Amino acid sequence: MSSPKELIAIMLSPVFERRGWNSMLIEVDVTVDGRFGDYATPVALKLAKILGKSPQEVATLIIEDIKSNLKNEYIDSISFESGFINFRMSDFFYKEALRAIFREGARNDVKATEGEEREGRGKIVVLDYFQLNIAKQPHVGHLRSAVIGDALKRILLSRGYRVVADTHVGDWGTQFGILLYAYKKAVEGNEREIDAIKNDPFIKLQELYVTANQEEDIHEKGKIEFAKLEKGDVENRTIWKWMVEISMKKLEDNATRLKLLPFEEHRGESAYEDTMPRVVEFALAKGVAKKTEDGAVIVDLIEEGLDEAVLVKSDGATTYLLRDLATIQYRKSHYDFWKNLYIVDNRQSHHFRQVFRVAELLGFEGVGASEHIEFGFMKLPEGAMSTRRGNVVLLEAVLDEAESRARAVIYEKNPNLHNIDEVAKQIGLGAIKFFDLSHNRKSDIVFRFEDALSFEGKTGPYIQYTYARLKSILRKSADDAGDILPEGVSLDAEERALLLHCARIPETIQRVIDVWLPHLLVDHLFELAQSANEFYHSHPILTEHDEDKRKSLLAIVRAVTTTLARGLYLLGIDAPEEM
Ligand code: ARG
Repeated sequence: MSSPKELIAIMLSPVFERRGWNSMLIEVDVTVDGRFGDYATPVALKLAKILGKSPQEVATLIIEDIKSNLKNEYIDSISFESGFINFRMSDFFYKEALRAIFREGARNDVKATEGEEREGRGKIVVLDYFQLNIAKQPHVGHLRSAVIGDALKRILLSRGYRVVADTHVGDWGTQFGILLYAYKKAVEGNEREIDAIKNDPFIKLQELYVTANQEEDIHEKGKIEFAKLEKGDVENRTIWKWMVEISMKKLEDNATRLKLLPFEEHRGESAYEDTMPRVVEFALAKGVAKKTEDGAVIVDLIEEGLDEAVLVKSDGATTYLLRDLATIQYRKSHYDFWKNLYIVDNRQSHHFRQVFRVAELLGFEGVGASEHIEFGFMKLPEGAMSTRRGNVVLLEAVLDEAESRARAVIYEKNPNLHNIDEVAKQIGLGAIKFFDLSHNRKSDIVFRFEDALSFEGKTGPYIQYTYARLKSILRKSADDAGDILPEGVSLDAEERALLLHCARIPETIQRVIDVWLPHLLVDHLFELAQSANEFYHSHPILTEHDEDKRKSLLAIVRAVTTTLARGLYLLGIDAPEEM
């Protein structure tokens, strides 16, 4: 079934067609308080100006036309009130909506079913996120990219898009030359050092890197080693490969712990080694790039306010930017993407503006096909962590902390819960993801465990708890909560509002895809949970004596739990049955 917004737009469009009005003017939205109707459109106001009639006249025309030409069972009433044409959804609509909610929610796979009519059909989206750098451990700075990227992937899949998730691992560049130099120097004539490094590779490599950077001419030394690596020097390749291997293992461990959906590609920057020279030649031949006096290759974007984009440095070294250009070319030719999105913090916005502009000049992709989905900084306040290792806060440490704090909360609230450890993980991880996703991604955020783990307010645990509580009602009820509303039961305003909240989720998801802002879905779920809690207090469900009424209430509760679970799933958050 289409969403109510679509249903109404579909109803309006033949009216517009018959009169030759521009259907682009059709705009429908849910109303704030539902006083005059569930949905409203300002088209009468807009048309009145164009046609030189009063809004009342235009509205009457439209309403008469709809009523005489079409018997629409989804709509109960249409009225004109303070400039808007208002639509009230019918009980039949709610019955059908319920069916659609259960059908959608019954699937345990995020993917839209094959053959289903979905807006994403045939469209491929490349998502670039959780871009770790080799020989470094994932730290708290990598969290947002992983969480936002994974949520977008789930949301896109649910609407039938094909998604290619790629970590674009940072495994190439002169810094690896420095690392190679440092490593070889440390182990030279000192076999035992090799074991020491292998025992604790990330910490050791980090130390070696920092120390090496204090040496004079370190950049020269690094360049020499990197050049050897590029030319295929066996020793350097072997060490580098080992670094890549342990790093990819680390990446997988962290991705598993974060419960991210699997990635389709881990094409690191090194994968573009072969194609980079061709991109440079092409850019020069096309006259887009030029050689400077000192031998660098640049694209002059100064007049557009984007400075000079450097493809090759004067010493011949390739750049991060060049690798990104080669990547776009690869992705376009392999996937013919509809969108190519980079979930990267806002410090790189200048970089991506340059990349996209040069890619466009080179004709690698359509204008606007690539987008930087930027996000702000996430900060942990001083003293947030009970343990601190080194000068960065490791991602794993944040997850440990969240879990142990969640466990303490459950011990206090529900000490008899049989699977406390499992639930603590679900709540801890859920709290982090929810906190992140509940903010507009563009803002900087300060992550406080106490706030994120609270059972009140816009938090993961609040939604999870609402879900668990409603599930417990369903378990306690003697009757099965059916799929349908019993005949003859009429819904009160609160019940209708709650069901409409559930039925409107696809509209919110569409908005998320239009503007790439997952917090819109979080807001929607939070409002749904709030209304569900109010509903639960004002409607004694288990003690309702009228059987049909009780069945109807239970069906509504089930629709809410199905919607909450589905919504949380789309955000990458588990919904424990009990907590
Ligand atoms: N590894 C890079 C960094 O740490 C981020 C990569 C982002 N993705 C990209 N295609 N440039 O800064």
